[in-house]
Amino acid sequence: MDWIQQVASGRTFAIISHPDAGKTTLTEKLLLFGGAIREAGAVKARRSSAHARSDWMEIERQRGISVTSTVLQFPYQGYRINLLDTPGHQDFSEDTYRTLLAADSVVMVIDAAKGVEPQTIKLFEVCRMRKIPVFTFFNKLDREAREPLDLLDEVERILGIETYAMNWPVGMGQSFQGIFDRQQETFQRFNRASHAFDDGAYKDFKDQIPADLDQELQDALELLDGAGTALDLELVTAGLQSPVFWGSAIANFGVQSFLDYYIKMAPSPTARQSNLGVINPERKDFSGFIFKIQANMNPAHRDRVAFLRVVSGQFERGMAVTHDRSGRTTRLAQPQQFLAQDRHIVDEAFPGDVIGLHDPGLFHIGDTLSTIPNLSFVGFPRFSPEHFAEMELKYTLKHKQYQRGLEELTEEGLLQVFRSPDLGPEVYLGVVGPLQFDVLAYRLEHEYGVEISLRQLSYSLARWVFGGIPEIGRFDHAKMVVDNERRPVVLLEDARTLERLREKNPRLMFSESSEVHTPEEKEG
Ligand code: G4P
Repeated sequence: MDWIQQVASGRTFAIISHPDAGKTTLTEKLLLFGGAIREAGAVKARRSSAHARSDWMEIERQRGISVTSTVLQFPYQGYRINLLDTPGHQDFSEDTYRTLLAADSVVMVIDAAKGVEPQTIKLFEVCRMRKIPVFTFFNKLDREAREPLDLLDEVERILGIETYAMNWPVGMGQSFQGIFDRQQETFQRFNRASHAFDDGAYKDFKDQIPADLDQELQDALELLDGAGTALDLELVTAGLQSPVFWGSAIANFGVQSFLDYYIKMAPSPTARQSNLGVINPERKDFSGFIFKIQANMNPAHRDRVAFLRVVSGQFERGMAVTHDRSGRTTRLAQPQQFLAQDRHIVDEAFPGDVIGLHDPGLFHIGDTLSTIPNLSFVGFPRFSPEHFAEMELKYTLKHKQYQRGLEELTEEGLLQVFRSPDLGPEVYLGVVGPLQFDVLAYRLEHEYGVEISLRQLSYSLARWVFGGIPEIGRFDHAKMVVDNERRPVVLLEDARTLERLREKNPRLMFSESSEVHTPEEKEG
């Protein structure tokens, strides 16, 4: 395979969903088709074996949720697939957001009985911000679902993206017959008992399908064709049109045809914006960025793994690269890749690939590693936390461990730390979901031996302020603080407070993330 083909065969994507829509099940089925696992259940089993590995995951076990994101790589039909699994639980959405920075496209799983749910909306917003192509998979057709046309309408209306149905379900729940492929006019017949399916030209199946369901299909197709929306890969790539698929992950139905279309339609590794301009994946110099750090994956030796997404060039084990923030040259000796149950050492990696690097405490989220002098990738926003607390250390003798714990967990992105503008002793914490406070307290205690107490505050929004410092009166229900990089941030009780502040300070900009998003910035 030549270099250009090598680059073009990469597919790096994440699956997003509201909890329980079926993301884990779909992931597992994709891995099955990719030959990465031999039996269903391995992903969940993997989660439980991971529990034994780390104190932190004890919390997951107690809470019965998955806190971690996993990165899985497998080959499929000549493509190199990197599947970024993101936690669906709303409490960990900032982690999910950052995982999306490493993805080139996204599969949005929606429970066809429920439609668009709150977490779907939040995650979709991030995709829109980054203009990531979004493919929709309506799941659970083996159960009674909502009207397919209503579901499409809901996606268009609530998420504001055009849809193009690649295939169409015939019946649902008890009467579910199978899926009609609009591109090829073929049919996959659902067999409830065996979970196997026959496929072929639709006309060959027509006789076996109840007349009313066939009529419904014809009506739906007429409506879809009549709406005049054509599949437009340029719109898909720009994140403006979402190809829609239907199926049942648990019944293995519609998953493979989805995957087959997906790998052909989804973008190959995309370019990324840097301080030196756009870096194309075809460029031969190696470059990549850290999008996730996970500490204490192995409690026996306090390891930290930094996940790097390769942007350009070929990565080779042991290569020397420059770390942009410290300016240091570092040798990447033991890069790892992750596949279902295992992690293993990799010798090489290509654009789009994600590798895990042993982190001696050097890396932060957003750091660049490359062989291109002075290169730094840009565009790693912090997102507005929604829950705030003031933190106090219980025994001041532990101040050093406390500082280190707070610093490391902040670097991992578990929380955001704010201080008063005069850098006084008060420490304010912001998290996206309140469960993160528990995780913080637990990890500080178990990993750093530090006990803290937290007092929850009534703020619910943080806005980075650009263009000056707003005037805040005594009755404004707002508080000025600074973030870790001393950028001014205002904490606010609610959206009304924000509106008032905007009115009083019309020349200032209040941004939901630490980066101002301008259209030029999002190019590439
Ligand atoms: P998540 O990662 O998005 O949170 O969802 P997950 O895959 O864990 O699926 C949530 C529940 O929905 C699971 O049931 C799963 O078996 C079920 N499910 C997933 N896909 C389908 C489907 O296509 N049809 C139907 N009918 N159900 C589906 P559970 O009872 O919560 O867990 P489990 O005991 O089955 O593991």
